[in-house]
Amino acid sequence: MGHEVRGVVAPSKGAPVTVTTVQVPDPGPGEALVAVQACGVCRTDLHYREGGINNEFPFLLGHEAAGVVEAVGAGVETLAPGDFVILNWRAVCGHCRACRRGKPWYCFATHNATQSMRLADGTALSPALGIGAFTEKTLVHSGQCTKVNPAIAPEIAGLLGCGVMAGLGAALNTGGIIRGDSVAVIGCGGVGDAAIAGARLAGATTIIGIDVEERKLRWASDFGATHTVNARECDVVAAVQAYTGGFGADVVIDAVGRPETWRQAFFARDLAGTVVLVGVPTPELMVPDIPLLEFFSRGGALKSSWYGDCLPERDFPMLVELHLQGRLPLEKFVSETITLEDVETAFEKMQRGEVLRSVVLLP
Ligand SMILES: NC(=O)c1ccc[n+]([C@@H]2O[C@H](COP(=O)([O-])OP(=O)(O)OC[C@H]3O[C@@H](n4cnc5c(N)ncnc54)[C@H](O)[C@@H]3O)[C@@H](O)[C@H]2O)c1
Ligand SMILES: [Zn+2]
Ligand SMILES: [Zn+2]
Repeated sequence: MGHEVRGVVAPSKGAPVTVTTVQVPDPGPGEALVAVQACGVCRTDLHYREGGINNEFPFLLGHEAAGVVEAVGAGVETLAPGDFVILNWRAVCGHCRACRRGKPWYCFATHNATQSMRLADGTALSPALGIGAFTEKTLVHSGQCTKVNPAIAPEIAGLLGCGVMAGLGAALNTGGIIRGDSVAVIGCGGVGDAAIAGARLAGATTIIGIDVEERKLRWASDFGATHTVNARECDVVAAVQAYTGGFGADVVIDAVGRPETWRQAFFARDLAGTVVLVGVPTPELMVPDIPLLEFFSRGGALKSSWYGDCLPERDFPMLVELHLQGRLPLEKFVSETITLEDVETAFEKMQRGEVLRSVVLLP
């Protein structure tokens, strides 16, 4: 049995992606087959294509997706055909040492489908972030499907499955931003703008958006930045201090993930402030020399944010409701809707800084 569908595959390191036939098995025990309705193009897909994540080519790309459950395997009781879901890459196991200690957002043994999706010649595909959703149908673990209110448009909902959740969660969960905080966000792409939206939702009074592109700074203001800084034109640390009474920000979020931006985050926070690294560095990057005494005397917390420390079951339905109530403008992340054939072009637009998110819509 199984299904033959079209999917976007990265065949080898650095090569352009192609749309090709993908074989998707019927769901086995614990699995779900999902008809994908929309899937956003994330920078992490490009990292996969460039071999920046691992070398397990060929990849089935796409992981910021929403769709409708088509079939479930044996033993799946929490989902039924027809359910509208956002796919997640944190299907918590409930048993690992993080889960047992009451911190399931760190789960170290998350579930994925056990069967492989394959190319027509039988080659097994590595699905991006255990999802692989630039395809008409995808096979995931049932725990990777989070039911949400179907009143939200799929192209908006899908974005909560990765980058937008990572940014919102970096602000709300990892950064713990509360009303009255001052916040700086370095890198105002999809993830950084979501962090800005999260800071606004939490009641931060000063929100400084920092980027190297003027267009990105305009969008950052639109999401709630009270001040913007062009990192090409001025000293980022001095600018953040100037907007925070000379002290630095309570929380600084690095949504780029490079040594220079992390260093700026480190020095742009107030005493006892928090740095959140949500941008993903590539393996060759090194932390620059910082005197150990600076770590001690500045105090506070230096954190990383994996997927915004989210719990999909807790956070996705809540964020969808906030959006439907008009309190979280998720629709602003959708720069354009495209087809499967346009993913390579969307990567180019992303690299030129022209879009926040291109979202593939499937008929
Ligand atoms: N931690 C997670 O769970 C998680 C999840 C999704 C994405 N990410 C990562 O988050 C990062 C951002 O993703 P995105 O989709 O927003 O990418 P993006 O390309 O849309 O945004 C990056 C932004 O950073 C800006 N920028 C680049 N260099 C800069 C500098 N030196 N100073 C200031 N700004 C600079 C760019 O102009 C751009 O606006 C990526 O590394 C991505 O892999 C992390
Ligand atoms: Zn676990
Ligand atoms: Zn992503």
